[in-house]
Amino acid sequence: MMVNIVTIDGPSGVGKGTVSLKIAKHLSWNILDSGALYRILALIAKRHQVSLEDEIKLVELATELDIKFIPEADLSKLKIIYAGQDITTEIRNETYATMASQIAVKSTVRKALLARQRAFHVLPGLVADGRDMGTVVFPETKNKFFLTASCEERALRRYKQLNNIGIYVKLSELAVEIASRDKRDSTRTIAPLVAATDAVTIDTTELSIEEVVERILNKLVF
Ligand code: C5P
Repeated sequence: MMVNIVTIDGPSGVGKGTVSLKIAKHLSWNILDSGALYRILALIAKRHQVSLEDEIKLVELATELDIKFIPEADLSKLKIIYAGQDITTEIRNETYATMASQIAVKSTVRKALLARQRAFHVLPGLVADGRDMGTVVFPETKNKFFLTASCEERALRRYKQLNNIGIYVKLSELAVEIASRDKRDSTRTIAPLVAATDAVTIDTTELSIEEVVERILNKLVF
């Protein structure tokens, strides 16, 4: 049983990324933002003019991805570097989120990214966030969490997050995009967005980030 992995899954905009960084900072562990991998793949596919239907090419790109996740010294942010280029902000664009979720339904692509995600599990431990961290990628861990929040609250959180990094969108449009992405993620046959049966589910609608972090830290098993 893996005790040095914490998985944090949940729908878009729920705050998984922020919470994961804080947990990783508290434990001095490594971090995996698995959604970023799907977003990067979407970005690279676009740059190479690869159709989202071309699974063979997508798998090729997924296998070759030259990426680095570099946490800021204070672990407040994760810098994402592709082939030496900082794409941290670029991949946050909703265009890539939607494309990522279209790519993410393909079992061959998910398989190609599996070993890459598991390779993040190095000492002293790992905090991994995504949709299938507890169900598929690290099912052996004892520390599984599933965060939820109302659709309105999630759209608002994502809206503020995007604003903070200079990406301006309409709240109403964002809410629609998030809802359709969540629907696609939850209803796909491979690794759908669903809480693992042994995950602790936390409704964060009325909670601050600090409160969510505290609840998770209090439930960790070592
Ligand atoms: O978490 P983030 O919003 O960056 O993820 C973008 C998309 O990547 C999700 O909507 C989902 O379709 C896909 N994803 C996934 N499995 C993960 C993480 C992300 O399918 N573990």
